Amino acid sequence: MAAAVRMGVVGAGSISVRGILPHLCQPDLADRVKLAAVCDPVPGRADAAAAKFGVEQGFTEYEDLLARGDVDAVTIASPIGLHYEQGKLALQAGKHVHFNKTMTVTVAEASELIDLAAANSLRIVASPGEMLRPHHVRTRELIASGAIGTLSWVSCGAAFGTYHEDESVRGGSDVLSNIDPSWYFRKPGGGPMYDMTVYSLHTVTGILGPARRVTAMSGVRVPVRSFGGRDVETDADDNTAVLIDFGANLFCVATGTAAGGMTGGMGGAFYGTKGTINGLLLNGEPFDFPGRNPDERSARGHGNQALLPHVTGVHRDIEEQHVYEDVMQLVDWVRDGSPSIVTAEHARHVIDIIESAYRAASTGQTQDLTTTF
Ligand SMILES: NC(=O)c1ccc[n+]([C@@H]2O[C@H](COP(=O)([O-])OP(=O)(O)OC[C@H]3O[C@@H](n4cnc5c(N)ncnc54)[C@H](O)[C@@H]3O)[C@@H](O)[C@H]2O)c1
Repeated sequence: MAAAVRMGVVGAGSISVRGILPHLCQPDLADRVKLAAVCDPVPGRADAAAAKFGVEQGFTEYEDLLARGDVDAVTIASPIGLHYEQGKLALQAGKHVHFNKTMTVTVAEASELIDLAAANSLRIVASPGEMLRPHHVRTRELIASGAIGTLSWVSCGAAFGTYHEDESVRGGSDVLSNIDPSWYFRKPGGGPMYDMTVYSLHTVTGILGPARRVTAMSGVRVPVRSFGGRDVETDADDNTAVLIDFGANLFCVATGTAAGGMTGGMGGAFYGTKGTINGLLLNGEPFDFPGRNPDERSARGHGNQALLPHVTGVHRDIEEQHVYEDVMQLVDWVRDGSPSIVTAEHARHVIDIIESAYRAASTGQTQDLTTTF
């Protein structure tokens, strides 16, 4: 039997305290994962998280976690703009890495990390693992088999709204419940494209394959937000509309906006000459896929979160199951060598779409994508 993976959790913010730590501290994982260390620069936060979830050590400095945390792997759950530097330090220290979305802000950063991991025989799993969901695999099969005729175009996207300001861990008075979301509105790494539309882009490229070109319009629509009674200025674009070319005149419209989701939402709507797939519906009726609950009448949405390989037993009752699933993809890969489909190369292609969309918006020029997966 392979040993349990000693995991370090980088950042004890929303996704860690609501999702990663509650899942990874469950007794059913005792032989597969050990919560070895957690770090966060906010005084007292890492220690509070360690005490609450039974983590062996808490640190305020990330470098100390790498040097003294005795970890085999890290899950990076800090603001997106920090992921590249923190991932690089982890790989240089010989640790496997799970990146909460999005892995990096630029293609150049992603390529450097991919090369570094390869040179050191280390694993990277880069969220979100949207193609682990059976209904997305079925959507791909349905389109390939001609179930909706010739696919014409796809719509997808997501909106910030006030999702992050309103999360349950933002408005409290202790270190685990007063977590400041301001970075979501700042460069580098802020904005709904890197945070939310990234799910749509993983799904659509997972279903259709790599894209060829993008063009976009983008800017800031809500210049000032409010959190904890103070103003938070937006400097990362919060209103972006992207047009993506998949070749042979197949197009996708993807949005990452301040408000108002696109038809198809995170999972996308696929419009063909003989029908439409929107979420869990084919021409308005639920379509079948492995594990589907026939009583599930939910029309669309993120789609059956529980239908993920590791989301069984107690994990069905804990939040953020897809994040837990992606962490376990790395754990399995490290323990038994079975490669995950949640690859850094796929994540880099999605980063290419987002980075190129911003470049297209600022230059007015359609951008050729340079990556594939
Ligand atoms: N909030 C969600 O719903 C959600 C869902 C899925 C994935 N994610 C992803 O998880 C990651 C974290 O998001 P979040 O919502 O938890 O953010 P958050 O703002 O709630 O928490 C981030 C934490 O990182 C800490 N931090 C800041 N600098 C750090 C550093 N140098 N080293 C270590 N920690 C540092 C902050 O103090 C804070 O506690 C992001 O990549 C995000 O996209 C978030």
